[in-house]
This record gives sequence, structure tokens and C-alpha cells, in this order.
Amino acid sequence: MTTTEQDDLQSVQMLGLKLPTDPRWVRIAEIELEEILTDHAYCEQKAAMHCMLMISRYPEYTRLVDDLAPIVTEEWGHFRQVLAEMKKRNLTLGRQRKDEYVNKLRSFMKTGVSREEKLLEELLVAGLIEARSCERFRLLSINIKEVELRSFYHKFMVSEAGHYVLFLDLARSYFGKEKAEARWQEYLEHEAKIIDTLELRGDRMH
Ligand SMILES: [Fe+2]
Ligand SMILES: [Fe+2]
Repeated sequence: MTTTEQDDLQSVQMLGLKLPTDPRWVRIAEIELEEILTDHAYCEQKAAMHCMLMISRYPEYTRLVDDLAPIVTEEWGHFRQVLAEMKKRNLTLGRQRKDEYVNKLRSFMKTGVSREEKLLEELLVAGLIEARSCERFRLLSINIKEVELRSFYHKFMVSEAGHYVLFLDLARSYFGKEKAEARWQEYLEHEAKIIDTLELRGDRMH
């Protein structure tokens, strides 16, 4: 195993993820920069929308509202940063694509459970998307050939790592460490299977 591969494995373990991204992904993603930036932009937009949705669904969860309100601004800021980067490069925002990764994750969510139980599912799915995004931004920040883009992706990596910690922290504080951890482990196992079976594409963040 090379030093880079060891680092990748370590970072994946730190995030709890069970399967590292295929190292070939960065090489194919950088060839399709307009597509990967378009997909990234919509990921940020959806992250902002999802935080807004959680606030309107769970207004009585005061800490959640207080913590997620600034994240809405941050994620929307990310969307704008990606747009600006595209403009700078004369690239245009394309159409939004079907998000297979997120759809597959969401299909693992418990159904027919109480509104409160649903919150745990929502928090863990959000945390997982942040964790995988963070892992991929890290890969881009280290391996993409263009130096300027490395720092661009590094900033996202740091920010999404913070969101990952926040979502898991909210899950633990509302549902207790033991319960949140147990369900988190189930999600991690499921996510690894999704990553393993999804086609490796350079035009998708996930
Ligand atoms: Fe973001
Ligand atoms: Fe985020």
C-alpha cells in the first residue's frame, strides 16, 4: 500500500466510512469539470434546502433550529462559490441529474415510524452525505492536477467535515449515544454497499 492509499484509508476510517472511494474517480472527474461542478452545485443547493426543510418540520427542536439556520446560509454560500468558479472558467450550470446515491440512501430510512424516529433517520442520512462528500472533496483537494482547484476543494472538505460532526452530534444529543451509534453503524454498512454497486462516474459527486 502506498502512503497516499494509507492516508485515504485513514481519513475514511476517521469519518467512519466503510469503503474508500475508488482512486480512479478523481482522474475521470477532472476530465468532466463542467459536469462535476454542475453536480456539486446542486449538492450544495440540496443541502441548503434540506436544512430549511428540517427546520420547518421540527421547529420545536430548538437546538436543531439554532444550529441548522446558519448552515442554510453556509450551504447556499457554497452553491454560489461553485457558480462563481464555473463563471470564471466560462462553464455553464447544466441541468440537475437524478441523485441515485441519495435516493438509495433514503430508501434505507425507516418508514411507518413516529415523526421523532424519522428525525433520527434524517439526521443520520444528512451526516452520511456530508461524510462521503468530505471524503471526496479531500480526494479532489489532494489529487486533482490543477493546483488552484486543490485549494477550492480543500475549503469544502473542511466545511463539510464540520457539518458531518454537527449532524451526528444532534443525533446523539436527541436520541442518546447508544441508539444513534447503533443505527449509524447500520447506515454505514448500507452506504458501503451503495458505493460498491454504483457505477463510477466522473460527472457525479457521489
Ligand atoms: Fe456544502
Ligand atoms: Fe454540508
